[in-house]
Amino acid sequence: MEKKRILTGDRPTGKLHIGHLLGSLSNRVKLQYEYDSFIEIANIQALSDNFNNPSKVKDGIIELLCDYYAVGIDFDKANIFIQSEVPQIHEIFIYLANFATVQQIQHNPTIKTEMAQNRYEASTPLGFFFYPIHQAADIFSVNADLVPVGKDQLPMIEDARELGRRFNKTYGVDILGQPEALLGTKINVPGIDGAEKMGKSLNNCIYLSDSQEELKKKVFKVYTDPTRIHADDPGQVEGNVAFTYLDLFSDESQKEEIEDMKRRYREGTIKDIEVKGKLFEVMDVVLKPIRDRRKEAEEMKDELVKKALNSSRVVSSIARETADEMKKAMKIEF
Ligand code: TRP
Repeated sequence: MEKKRILTGDRPTGKLHIGHLLGSLSNRVKLQYEYDSFIEIANIQALSDNFNNPSKVKDGIIELLCDYYAVGIDFDKANIFIQSEVPQIHEIFIYLANFATVQQIQHNPTIKTEMAQNRYEASTPLGFFFYPIHQAADIFSVNADLVPVGKDQLPMIEDARELGRRFNKTYGVDILGQPEALLGTKINVPGIDGAEKMGKSLNNCIYLSDSQEELKKKVFKVYTDPTRIHADDPGQVEGNVAFTYLDLFSDESQKEEIEDMKRRYREGTIKDIEVKGKLFEVMDVVLKPIRDRRKEAEEMKDELVKKALNSSRVVSSIARETADEMKKAMKIEF
């Protein structure tokens, strides 16, 4: 039996952090052997709200490639491709665009939120506005069965399914599938400052590319219990980022020790610095191999780009077939 196809994408706008690692990257590494896997570096989508900063998007591609390599994505197994190198996606986009309405996009909850954030009001750039259709084209370019994404992307997949159904129905064909979202287990990774989410603009991230010294510095700055002044004050474990990270990064063999530390923290018989020392040790076990591989990746940037370009060619030829079938349905093949 043929393996099912999965497709995910990232906007190349910066380096990845431990929230990405726990939230989606680890999952991709697991899925790459089970499925026929496509990972898109969505540089055209990234330009839709960074068109005046192309260097950021260009540099972002290299950062993504290094991060992928570092976490163990297998470049010979997964098809890592660059969106702008698969122009058939734009072609599929324009064919799909006949089936999308302004109202439908306006009602897309993700677009609504982003419109409010960007305060575009009456001057919304079309490049931004139509990106749900373009993202549907990403998915249909390889006719993906599954799309591993976070919850915020569900409306995009719903739109893609709708466009696929309308296209098929109009021409009486069965060309575009019904992609399904694959929601990972929700893992909330707070920022080192205690903010609910880790985010580049919040300046509260631990990056996969951080050196050991940077990691140590950040770990010792992690938000704990601000009301605890002395080591013998009883402390709070809930909402304490040091313990949240300990839970996320420790393995089974360390659980007992960590539970004991939590007990002592609540009692006021352990110092913050001791907890953070342990945290650094636990996180470094996970992050060191990633850091080492990232160093390796930096030495082979050209090779990684070359592999991504080769995969882009593979994806191009698959997308060509999809686009040709669509053309045939629309009676524009000559
Ligand atoms: N919009 C996605 C994000 O911001 C990235 C993305 C682009 C994507 N194309 C995709 C995700 C196709 C899934 C499938 O995270």
